[in-house]
Amino acid sequence: MAKRAFVLAGEVPDEAGVAIVATASGAPEAFVAGRPASLSLSLTHSHGVAVAALGAPGVPLGVDLERVEKRSPGFLADWFTDAEQAFVAAAPAGETGLAATLVWSAKEAVMKALREGLRIPPRAVEVAPERGPADGAWRPFAARGPAGKAWRGWWRADAGFVLSAVSSAGSGAPRPIG
Ligand SMILES: CC(C)(COP(=O)(O)OP(=O)(O)OC[C@H]1O[C@@H](n2cnc3c(N)ncnc32)[C@H](O)[C@@H]1OP(=O)(O)O)[C@@H](O)C(=O)NCCC(=O)NCCS
Repeated sequence: MAKRAFVLAGEVPDEAGVAIVATASGAPEAFVAGRPASLSLSLTHSHGVAVAALGAPGVPLGVDLERVEKRSPGFLADWFTDAEQAFVAAAPAGETGLAATLVWSAKEAVMKALREGLRIPPRAVEVAPERGPADGAWRPFAARGPAGKAWRGWWRADAGFVLSAVSSAGSGAPRPIG
């Protein structure tokens, strides 16, 4: 699926010319025709659905897919900042699970763009999403990572899943490849 993304993006004529390897951190790295790909790559999968995202050369990129589900009070207390817990607590009736899932998905997208994943504590990244329903529309989120670095990403909820993506500050909403 990640290989197909490079074909759809016009980087290579067929999947045989693409190799994906995991680096020591677990972050994926792509090779096209034996050379490091210029486009950045991030991958995610959840409950039988997989997403590959490609980004501009050299731009940090993170994508994360999560199935919408409620999170326990303990999960929120352990992994969410006070502001994120307040965001979930203020969710409209029936949307607590969506709010918690989108916070977690956005955090993971940033942790992947940092190429750290859960090697850094989730509370080291704080996200502030624009609230919205599960209507498939992209909505922005702001995030602050370690050392105060600011990020701006995008999330959308559809078919029981939340997909989040983040690259450089100020990038537009994700577009389908190809
Ligand atoms: C990144 C991480 C949070 C993803 O967990 P998840 O939500 O359960 O899984 P997702 O499907 O959304 O993402 C998995 C993909 O994230 C990517 N990924 C893994 N580690 C990553 C990292 N440090 N940075 C960026 N992306 C990473 C991989 O492409 C992986 O796909 P793969 O399983 O096909 O190799 C988790 O794998 C992690 O923290 N990994 C780093 C810590 C670690 O275990 N390092 C040693 C790896 S050898």
